[in-house]
Amino acid sequence: MSAILLLVGVFSSITATQSIGVCYGVSGDNLPSRQEVVDLYKTNGISRMRIYYPDEEALQALRGSNIELIMDVAGETIQSLTNPDVAIDWVNTYVTPYSDVKFKYINVGNEVHPGDAVAQYILTAMTNIQNAISLTNLQGQIKVSTAIDGTLITNSYPPSNGAFTSDATTYITSIINFLAENESPLLANVYPYFAYVNDLQNIDLAYAIFNQQGNNEIGYQNLFDAMLDSIYAALEKVGASNLQIVVSESGWPSEGGTGATTENADTYYANLISHVSGTSGTPMRPGVSIETFLFAMFDENHKLGAETERHFGLFFPNKTSKYSLNFN
Ligand SMILES: *[C@@H]1O[C@H](CO)[C@@H](O)[C@H](O)[C@H]1NC(C)=O
Repeated sequence: MSAILLLVGVFSSITATQSIGVCYGVSGDNLPSRQEVVDLYKTNGISRMRIYYPDEEALQALRGSNIELIMDVAGETIQSLTNPDVAIDWVNTYVTPYSDVKFKYINVGNEVHPGDAVAQYILTAMTNIQNAISLTNLQGQIKVSTAIDGTLITNSYPPSNGAFTSDATTYITSIINFLAENESPLLANVYPYFAYVNDLQNIDLAYAIFNQQGNNEIGYQNLFDAMLDSIYAALEKVGASNLQIVVSESGWPSEGGTGATTENADTYYANLISHVSGTSGTPMRPGVSIETFLFAMFDENHKLGAETERHFGLFFPNKTSKYSLNFN
């Protein structure tokens, strides 16, 4: 009897396990070819990829690979997709011809903020892409979403107090209704690293890299769960308690700023992989593994901004792994 129960438990945790995704940015002048990159995903057992625009060379390389894909609409294309015919063309150019590429999500807008000029176009562009996908009968397989960042969330501690800022509420509510109607998840880029460096007085490094021992007073073992649950709490406050979140980016830089060391990054990625692949979930969403995309495949020497931005790679451009991670 107990042996049977144990087996059932083992099998159900196997089926619930999530495989890891890795974001593939190309803002570097020294990166391997698209085909070499797809091969590197395969040899490392990385079965999901995010790309940031319809990169036709990458799509060619992905044919038949079985790698599940998040494909972003290029930021500069979003406004044009408010024309339904342009959205149909977009799908007919970048999606339909690649029937042997496993598109999972089309992402419209990465870290768009309510005050950005492009914000007014996001919902219409999402709707038009969704309609164009429905015309090809792929709506069951390919979901349309948008990727938010942490600046849309306020009162994130304790996580149950999490809410969208008032600007963000106006912006996101209609988008969230769209996601719920289409049974699409919300994508969220979740960076304990930035939360940590922005609040060194209150946040322990150990808590940010999953090394905290024991419970803090509200039951959170790590900052990642706390940040994710603050978004779930925000969704509940706008009536979207059933919406799923996919973590569309998370990572830790190996150099260039406070706490940015190879050792900390190795610890963060290894612990994140084991946490999201398991079925512990978060305190607000226990028992479910968390679909997560690590940021990013390579160090990208052309990334702008802080020095850390150029050191998020899991691999050096010469394809040597920076860390000893096991992706499956
Ligand atoms: C790859 O690049 C890294 C960083 O520049 C370097 O440390 C490493 O030795 C290189 N590996 C090979 C095999 O060239």
